Amino acid sequence: MNKLLLSCLLLGAFAVIVCGAPLAASAADEQQPAAAPTADDGKAVFEKQCTSCHKAVRVEKYNGSAPWKTVVSRMIKKNGAKIDENTAAQVVTYLDKTYPKK
Ligand code: HEC
Repeated sequence: MNKLLLSCLLLGAFAVIVCGAPLAASAADEQQPAAAPTADDGKAVFEKQCTSCHKAVRVEKYNGSAPWKTVVSRMIKKNGAKIDENTAAQVVTYLDKTYPKK
């Protein structure tokens, strides 16, 4: 029981470290790769996560006024995309850079 509690605490601390200091990439090696939201990571995420329900072209051609952050969070909240916060940040970084809003 105590061991379980300890593991939970450790896991919690790990999550805080990973989320709070995305540049400490080596800490992310344990389970979840890619903690730092760089555009390169975002590209891979985009190709994998944003093409499962619709084609990439839907995103590439999108020129609505909503910022990417809003679009991505809509995909998650309304459309049910299974993307965690960290990954969403990566993909938003990528989209902002690749398809900047005017
Ligand atoms: C679970 C399925 C799903 C996933 C995964 C998904 N989308 Fe979507 N997406 C939809 C649906 C459904 C629509 C059409 C309804 C809407 O616009 O909300 C859509 C529409 C869009 C549109 C067009 C919006 C418009 O107003 O014309 C954009 C841009 C978009 N998605 C971007 C993304 C990006 C970026 C990702 C990856 C982070 C993503 N989607 C992942 C389901 C998904």
